[in-house]
Amino acid sequence: MRLAPLVLAADDGTPFELRSPGPEDAGIMLAFLRQLLHESSEYLNAPSKTYDTVSETGQVATLERMLRRERAFYLAAFDGATMIGNLQFTAFDVPVSTHCGELAIGVLQSHQGRGIARSMLSRCIAEARALGIWNLRFSVRTYNHRAIALYERQGFRRVGRLEGVAKIGGAFVDEFLYQGVFENPS
Ligand SMILES: CC(C)(COP(=O)(O)OP(=O)(O)OC[C@H]1O[C@@H](n2cnc3c(N)ncnc32)[C@H](O)[C@@H]1OP(=O)(O)O)[C@@H](O)C(=O)NCCC(=O)NCCS
Repeated sequence: MRLAPLVLAADDGTPFELRSPGPEDAGIMLAFLRQLLHESSEYLNAPSKTYDTVSETGQVATLERMLRRERAFYLAAFDGATMIGNLQFTAFDVPVSTHCGELAIGVLQSHQGRGIARSMLSRCIAEARALGIWNLRFSVRTYNHRAIALYERQGFRRVGRLEGVAKIGGAFVDEFLYQGVFENPS
């Protein structure tokens, strides 16, 4: 699905746009993903080279597929013509868990610490709740203090620990399981 554009101010007053990227953004989204994975791969699931060989045509197809989905979205932050952050939200399709969803988020180092992720996450929670999805979850590396602070400030709670679930730089590392149970609108 496609979320409409909103212009917001970062903590330093700089305006940025929050919206779903479309096929026309394939090139700038690939540039964003390549940079994000090269600079922050120790926090993410995809290896740093994942997008190096993805073509713009392939990325167009991915974006078109995402826009066609009714209970999933990308929500990206743009500084002018540069994508600086992205959040991927996906609702669960399991019939007994249609009120549940999961998400992943990333912001370029050059734009971190200005409230970009906070804005993306709070809009994601609001948009998910509007779809009747109020029970959110994800896991985060135990050493990702910045992300943990972000999630806890937004009302997510640590509900468990997954041991050795990722192999990073030759070592198995743990992740915390986080859950956000927001008000059930029904
Ligand atoms: C985690 C991440 C998304 C945060 O993005 P960001 O845009 O810098 O975050 P924000 O500026 O919106 O800050 C939001 C909160 O994060 C926390 N935070 C931000 N900078 C921090 C820092 N240097 N140290 C500790 N906490 C910090 C604060 O709680 C802040 O909330 P507050 O300003 O209301 O106190 C970003 O660091 C990132 O993309 N990291 C690499 C990828 C990643 O780790 N993704 C998450 C995988 S689970």
